[in-house]
Amino acid sequence: MTEPLLKLDRVDTYYGQIQVHFGVSLEVPHGEIVSLLGGNASGKSTAMKIILGLHRPRSGTISFDGEPINGLLTPQIVRRGIASVPEARRLFGDMSVRENLLMGAFTRRDRDGIAQDYERMLELFPRVKERLAQRAGTLSGGEQQMLAMARALMSRPKLVCMDEPTMGLSPLYVDKVLDLIRTLNQQGVTFFMVEQNASLALQIAHRGYVLQTGRVVLSGEAGALLGDRRIRDAYLGGALAAETAS
Ligand SMILES: Nc1ncnc2c1ncn2[C@@H]1O[C@H](COP(=O)(O)OP(=O)(O)OP(=O)(O)O)[C@@H](O)[C@H]1O
Ligand SMILES: [Mg+2]
Repeated sequence: MTEPLLKLDRVDTYYGQIQVHFGVSLEVPHGEIVSLLGGNASGKSTAMKIILGLHRPRSGTISFDGEPINGLLTPQIVRRGIASVPEARRLFGDMSVRENLLMGAFTRRDRDGIAQDYERMLELFPRVKERLAQRAGTLSGGEQQMLAMARALMSRPKLVCMDEPTMGLSPLYVDKVLDLIRTLNQQGVTFFMVEQNASLALQIAHRGYVLQTGRVVLSGEAGALLGDRRIRDAYLGGALAAETAS
């Protein structure tokens, strides 16, 4: 079997004394969309943070393209080909849409390539193109999500990590965002996305993992997970916990 693009192997993560990941292992194969599902406070965003080097696991290994990356600094991780669209998007609100977009290429030095990708993003995200001169902070939620995605892609990533890309969006924008993820995936970008909305995520994902209070309690192909009663239970509260504990 070929090496997955991203691999977490028996990761334990803490905030101070409090453990939030318990032996988390997961794989994101090249060219796939993988969803990390789970309820509030299950450790999803923390998984994003440790992949991006924004927080360190206490033990376990995170590998990218076959090499360990835990220990690297965030810019080094970005340079290796991981981009992120964090929760609540974290745009630079006072800067223009154009400046935000170009900021995504901060690790690159190839001017021609950057210019090409800039044009490509404007084609892919017409709403962003219409608003280049506008302050990013004045964009609607859906527009901010588009800009955050376009900005992430400006680093020409192999892997895009997205934290709740559809949160707070109207149904129209939810569809747009999911369509874009699908399109970009078909163009070769691998996605690792956190979602609370399991059925949405599993519609576009190839496979999924379910986190519950820091443990992977279920994983498999998206189609199989969609049909799994335990997925629903996992989102209805303690049913799965009770089952796995017994
Ligand atoms: N910087 C921090 N310091 C201390 N505890 C934290 C910190 N960040 C997160 N936590 C705690 O770690 C646990 C997991 O948080 P995390 O943000 O990873 O969950 P999540 O699955 O993304 O939740 P949500 O669905 O609400 O976004 C929570 O109990 C949270 O309170
Ligand atoms: Mg979160």
